[in-house]
Amino acid sequence: MKAIVYEEYGSPDVLELREVEKPTPKDDEVLIKVYAVSVNSADVHLLRADPFMIRLSSGFLKPKNKIIGADIAGRVEAVGRNVKQFRQGDEVFGDISGCGFGGFAEYVCAYENALVKKPANMSFEEAAAVPMAAVTALQGLRSKGQIQPGQKVLINGASGGVGLFAVQIAKAFGAEVTAVCSTRNVDIVRSIGADHVIDYTQEDFTQNGHRYDLILAVNGYHPISDYRRVLTPQGTYVMSGGATAQMFEAMLQGPWISMTGSQKMGNLLAKPNKEDLAFVKELIEAGKVKPVIDRCYPLSEVPEAIRYLEEGHAKGKVVISVAQEN
Ligand SMILES: NC(=O)c1ccc[n+]([C@@H]2O[C@H](COP(=O)([O-])OP(=O)(O)OC[C@H]3O[C@@H](n4cnc5c(N)ncnc54)[C@H](OP(=O)(O)O)[C@@H]3O)[C@@H](O)[C@H]2O)c1
Repeated sequence: MKAIVYEEYGSPDVLELREVEKPTPKDDEVLIKVYAVSVNSADVHLLRADPFMIRLSSGFLKPKNKIIGADIAGRVEAVGRNVKQFRQGDEVFGDISGCGFGGFAEYVCAYENALVKKPANMSFEEAAAVPMAAVTALQGLRSKGQIQPGQKVLINGASGGVGLFAVQIAKAFGAEVTAVCSTRNVDIVRSIGADHVIDYTQEDFTQNGHRYDLILAVNGYHPISDYRRVLTPQGTYVMSGGATAQMFEAMLQGPWISMTGSQKMGNLLAKPNKEDLAFVKELIEAGKVKPVIDRCYPLSEVPEAIRYLEEGHAKGKVVISVAQEN
């Protein structure tokens, strides 16, 4: 089969399209023919071994797993003898980062618990755009943020992969959503349901006097003290992404602020979760959430796709189209 392989950590230049052996499912695994796979910052972290600590689990000098790619959508080709939930021909999607990645390939094996049946009303490309970004948004808003109907919720970094899901999921929970993005993304963010849009090139949301019950920081940078000022007295701040300084402030200062006051501040480390993905699937089937795809590349152009994601200005998700339906 064809796959995008890397033998050493580095820039997208180290990725090569190669012919490799097709994997065989173990007893508790499913073999999937991959139709589409999306690109996430998790792939970039593994590719570059950045942060350095990644080497402790992924191979100190060179990567143990030679194929990255986590968010797949495809069709079940074969199942191991202990697999109960799927059979040959099922259309599935999921985040296989917990199964060793391997999605930038024509076939991949994954545990059944990483997979959910694909919504019938979506293409493989749309389905591949969903798992990691949407589950991160859901876990930030619901698990960490304890979102409630009627709350005023602010999403900073609303126009990227995670942000566009976060806006829609927060709306599905009945929140009043303020989305922060740049001028060129105002229309898309409004069209997916944001009640208010703040163009960060024109206005600083930390200076306009508004307060929010829940803030999900997905991109950009503001000091934690700024976020604290625009939270309501009982408000919650969840740092999901953005600048490294923002992550360390949430990790180091967040627990102290949460312990000593009424506001809750902390960071999110999203994990693949089948129930959460199934919940997102229901929102999709109910028409409450839909993925937004910025660009679609063929498998041979994974390096270009990653370079584009790394520029940091994707409008929604970047997807790789691996195979076409006959
Ligand atoms: N905590 C977790 O478990 C977890 C899980 C997944 C992802 N993440 C992290 O979450 C972050 C976002 O992921 P993603 O997939 O959404 O990234 P992405 O798709 O690459 O985000 C790009 C978007 O961010 C916007 N943006 C850039 N600078 C901004 C700023 N200063 N203010 C507001 N928006 C800004 C861009 O809009 P403009 O072009 O208009 O600037 C663009 O639409 C990344 O740092 C990623 O590592 C964390």
